[in-house]
Amino acid sequence: MNTHRIALIPGDGIGQDVTEAAWSVLQTVAKHSGFVLEATVFPWSCAFYKETGQMMPDDAIETLRKFDAILLGAVGWPAEVLDSVSLHGLLLPIRKAFVQYANIRPHRLLPGVQGPLKAESFDILCIRENTEGEYSGAGGRIHQGTKDEVAIETAIFTRVGVERILRFGFERARSRRGKLASVTKSNAQKYSMVFWDEITRTLATEYPDVEVTSYHVDAMSARMVMAPETLDVIVASNLFGDILTDLGAAIQGGLGFAASANINPDRSAPSMFEPVHGSAPDIAGKGIANPIAAIWSGAMMLEHLGETDAAAMVMNAISATTASGIGTVPGKHTTEAIAMAVADAITTLER
Ligand code: IPM
Ligand code: MN
Repeated sequence: MNTHRIALIPGDGIGQDVTEAAWSVLQTVAKHSGFVLEATVFPWSCAFYKETGQMMPDDAIETLRKFDAILLGAVGWPAEVLDSVSLHGLLLPIRKAFVQYANIRPHRLLPGVQGPLKAESFDILCIRENTEGEYSGAGGRIHQGTKDEVAIETAIFTRVGVERILRFGFERARSRRGKLASVTKSNAQKYSMVFWDEITRTLATEYPDVEVTSYHVDAMSARMVMAPETLDVIVASNLFGDILTDLGAAIQGGLGFAASANINPDRSAPSMFEPVHGSAPDIAGKGIANPIAAIWSGAMMLEHLGETDAAAMVMNAISATTASGIGTVPGKHTTEAIAMAVADAITTLER
């Protein structure tokens, strides 16, 4: 029997609740489909930081490297650990070390979910550059705490980095409806973003079947609200993709539905799957976090592991669940009840 070894990092706050829920659904589909998902749980989190002074041990990357995939809940507990410390101690280094350069985030309305827009049918795949750009971490501060203080944060765009994320976008567009929207701000940022636009045009000649349009990020944010149905695949830099995907989450009904995958397309290291939402301290431990984003991220993990039928089964089960009104209204159903409904749908839809 096919076995996939998964590193589970529930992390902080509702990350714990939704990871447990997602894992139970994944176990159901694995049993049903005849493959094995084997979990090793790592307690790396802000609580771990408080005990050890580190978000994860020195050898964490080497430990994780042996797994087939990583499933992450959420990281961050700002009341006790600065976000800039917790995120730079766990999530961001994993994305970089494992060259998970494509962060893919689907935005569409699940059946029964009421979004804030009039448009009901849109299906957007946002691809965010995930290892460089504005989040490269290059910079520094001098004269700290004085009136002469200077802070510099440099965005880094490399030809390799830009070309590979754009190529990934073209490929995805080709496998979907053939439309690619490349997002920059090249009217204002005349080096990096003009560079990005140029590479977009060069690659476009290799993909004559893909209709590519370049947008400025401000115009794209308006388009996602006013005409989301005109969009298919969006490809954007790290910062722009980060912002646009929270907007994407909003138009799909909320962060509780927003799934994501940090993909290493070359498969030279494990990929990592996580809901877009954070640790939500306000509802942590109450058992009411919506696990759908985490379960959907789990389906993306199955797809990446080659279990495409099982991934489709999970997505059908999520749709059946929301169509029946479960998991569509915040706080109405418990995390566990929603996960159980999805698991039930997996076993009943098939037979
Ligand atoms: C996300 C998050 C992270 C990011 C933060 C927590 C560093 O907002 O995955 O969208 O911006 O990458
Ligand atoms: Mn974000």
